[in-house]
Amino acid sequence: MQKPDDLALDAHWMPFTANRAFKANPRLVVSAKDMHYQSYDGRSILDGTSGLWCCNAGHCRDPIVQAVIKQAQTLDYAPAFQMGHPGSFRLANRLAQMLPGDLDHVFFCNSGSEAVDTALKIALAYHRARGQSQRQLLVGRERGYHGVGFGGISVGGISANRKQFASLLPRVDHLPHTHDVAHNGFSKGIPAWGAHLADELENRIIALHDASNIAAVIVEPMAGSTGVLIPPQGYLQRLRDICDRHGLLLIFDEVITGFGRTGEPFAAQTFGVTPDIITLAKGLTNAIVPMGAVAVKKDIYETLMNTAPDAGVELFHGYTYSGHPLATAAAEATLDLYEKEALFARSKELAPYFEQAVHSLREMPNVVDIRNIGLVAGIELESKPGKPTQRAFNAYLRCFERGLLIRTTGDTIALSPPLIISRAQIDELIDILGQALRETGRD
Ligand SMILES: Cc1ncc(COP(=O)(O)O)c(C=O)c1O
Repeated sequence: MQKPDDLALDAHWMPFTANRAFKANPRLVVSAKDMHYQSYDGRSILDGTSGLWCCNAGHCRDPIVQAVIKQAQTLDYAPAFQMGHPGSFRLANRLAQMLPGDLDHVFFCNSGSEAVDTALKIALAYHRARGQSQRQLLVGRERGYHGVGFGGISVGGISANRKQFASLLPRVDHLPHTHDVAHNGFSKGIPAWGAHLADELENRIIALHDASNIAAVIVEPMAGSTGVLIPPQGYLQRLRDICDRHGLLLIFDEVITGFGRTGEPFAAQTFGVTPDIITLAKGLTNAIVPMGAVAVKKDIYETLMNTAPDAGVELFHGYTYSGHPLATAAAEATLDLYEKEALFARSKELAPYFEQAVHSLREMPNVVDIRNIGLVAGIELESKPGKPTQRAFNAYLRCFERGLLIRTTGDTIALSPPLIISRAQIDELIDILGQALRETGRD
């Protein structure tokens, strides 16, 4: 693709990107509207991934854009510590109403990674406030992705994201992941096999470390970034039951699954299990302004409020931009739009059509598994011998050339289109992806 003649690419060190390959063949987008990006060379690109799983209402939606403009003209910034502005309180109330159970108190930050590290710190502070400061071990899961902070990569289970950095948190263990093509290959929706994998928490991790030393278990209810792994039937409930039996906090990282992705507002509702803490980001503001949030159950908030010295700070944690006015304005307008256009219901309603469409790719070359729930799907390809990731990435490049944005992780293609996608656009997406997959047969 062309790039502007006066645009030098070298100085920007791009995140999670093969910089040298990208800069030799850049892919630049210059504008976006609803379901499409416009590329620098003037092509319209159907967004099959909501940007990076974040533009759930589609791009440059006018009510959100206007709300941000208005806010920028009215109150650009308010100090986040020992001061406030009404927007963050309104937004917290609104989220508390939407969230399941008594997840009634919300702490704001600026990204999913910050939300995860905040949640882990709250878990440690909570046990300490209850006089159980020995509960320090954090349990994550193999293949989990919880962002890139030191907390997040420690509980995370993607080895490439860990191995370059030595100083991980010392007290961490991991559950096994739940992916098993032999048992669950080509499942539609929630796979049947694998609930027993949750028992590892009790049989191995608690048996080894003792529950009295464990603070929390963090999982993505549906693991997204590792390649769309849907939790087996009953698995999350087993985790919930074990955590309850042993006094461990259960944290759901809903950075991807929040805001309609799995067919309900939150995956906690899709899978019928309520955690003690939920992390949010991405779809919270439809990505127009970065924002993250951590919602905690009443008991956690009240414990920290009631055990801190009178009038003292209860949690020594926060960010300059916690509850930034532009972010809260964007989030309020985003939630309004989700509601006005009933986009969560739309996600649920479109899910069967989307499911049928993605599973129609089953006979394409190299496809070894397809999995889906709500408006998310993973299409796993057999890796090319000695060249993992290449086959899926080639499909990505071919789709991009043909006007479709998909996402790949390892050799899995992940689809997570904006919830405003039409049936005709689902057909178009599958058609272009099908052409690209057919060509992977030649790779
Ligand atoms: C489950 C989960 N947690 C955390 C993150 C990190 O979010 P961010 O990139 O906003 O820091 C992501 C990002 O994809 C995610 O999928």
